[in-house]
Amino acid sequence: MKKRIIQFISLASLVCCSSLANAGKDTEKQLATGNKLHTEHCYKCHTEAVYIRDDRFVKSINALSKQVVRCKDNLGIPWFDEDTDAVVYFLNEKYYKF
Ligand code: HEC
Repeated sequence: MKKRIIQFISLASLVCCSSLANAGKDTEKQLATGNKLHTEHCYKCHTEAVYIRDDRFVKSINALSKQVVRCKDNLGIPWFDEDTDAVVYFLNEKYYKF
């Protein structure tokens, strides 16, 4: 009986921790993708100064997401939703921190 409980606990922690490790990798990957896409496409009209100026107008994660879409559509770049999300994620992690 005791053995079974120990088995169960070790199995549970294995499942738990491997999925946590995967989640970590996903966010890292998203950050790297966002960083790369942003560097490639987003420095044409403004630098990152617009994200850190005192009177920046993006005040929420929703507004950030909308603004990224607006700027992306202006550029006419054919990003998938995942690409746009990665850039939003990157900007939020690095500058906005909502
Ligand atoms: C066609 C020119 C252009 C390009 C290219 C561009 N932007 Fe913008 N972006 C603007 C303008 C104009 C503003 C508004 C600046 C202002 O009001 O001073 C702005 C503002 C922003 C803001 C809001 C800043 C704030 O005040 O909080 C974000 C976020 C942003 N851009 C993201 C992006 C991203 C991501 C990309 C790459 C997809 C991008 N921009 C590419 C023109 C552009």
